[in-house]
Amino acid sequence: MTPQIWQEKCAEIRARHGAAAASAATLADLEKAETDCLGRKGELTELLKTLKDFPLEDKKRLGPAGNALKEELAGLFAGRRDSLSRAELDARLSSVAEDLSLPPYPFPKGHRHPLTVITDSMTGILMRMGFAWADGPYIENEHHNFDALNVAQHHPARDMHDTFYVKPADGHEADERLLLRTHTSSVQIRYMRGRKPPVRIISPGRAFRSDRIDASHSPVFHQLEGLCVDEGVSLADLKTTLMQFYTALFRQKVDIRFRPSYFPFVEPGVEVDFSCVFCKGKGCSVCKRSGWVEVGGAGVVHPNVLKAVGIDPEKYGGYAFGLGIERTAMLLYGINDIRAFYENDLRVLSQF
Ligand code: DAH
Repeated sequence: MTPQIWQEKCAEIRARHGAAAASAATLADLEKAETDCLGRKGELTELLKTLKDFPLEDKKRLGPAGNALKEELAGLFAGRRDSLSRAELDARLSSVAEDLSLPPYPFPKGHRHPLTVITDSMTGILMRMGFAWADGPYIENEHHNFDALNVAQHHPARDMHDTFYVKPADGHEADERLLLRTHTSSVQIRYMRGRKPPVRIISPGRAFRSDRIDASHSPVFHQLEGLCVDEGVSLADLKTTLMQFYTALFRQKVDIRFRPSYFPFVEPGVEVDFSCVFCKGKGCSVCKRSGWVEVGGAGVVHPNVLKAVGIDPEKYGGYAFGLGIERTAMLLYGINDIRAFYENDLRVLSQF
């Protein structure tokens, strides 16, 4: 090949491949055209390879011209690639119906369940008052749920009508009958066993009773248990604690009233009432015109309970209380049917 023919070929490649770059209609066409020209076996690549056969003088002249052409064509392909990609993006964007200037779609937010909200505020107040948080299992044995709490064998609470008994799984044997705990008081025993006073705990959680469902009963419900055992603890400490607790919960001065009652694990046992915060004692439907609202049981820990967990009742005393969480939530939020907590009606739940 003469240098002149070589140069003519260059001009011809410049014209043909330059036109191919300019007229490629898609990115795929462009890719192919570029490979045909500048690829490993491309026309220009092959032509540049023939340079080595020219005498040195010619090489010095033709070489730079060839490289300049290679760069020029690479620039043409790159420029075309830019405009084709932009055109493809424009086409894609104009084919979708979205209007990116619209305000964002309002995603519905989740809510904490009202029982979670009230449990958090109740435990928050008591923990700031110095109670630690304790927990126990839903499936209990009779020892923790009844015996150690001084509930006699023949006590009606053990009757099948109140308690859900649980059959051990096949291949498992239980020394004692298993049951779904009927109150959170079982946590008292679990916590005290193996520990020395002082004890100051609360334990919120589920309890289970085989009750018929109505506006104020549910077979699954929640209680908040409290327990304080130390030297020189009295019923007066219990009353002050509950008074301060309800005053903080309702954000207004609340009085506490005790009515004598019976729970096997406390002596004396009391029913706890707080002064009605809704009518300020004038009498309303919540307090049934009495000025007082009942919220749970409490009392001075029975010596037999302390003995059952190896604590000396001569040296230590204590108080315990068990408050209904649903009951408290119903009062605070003005809900008059316990089923509202379990029906997952978003019109109710989304208010919290
Ligand atoms: N466990 C009782 C119940 O479920 C409530 C209760 C009463 C708890 C007196 C106590 C207490 O800790 O001292 O009805």
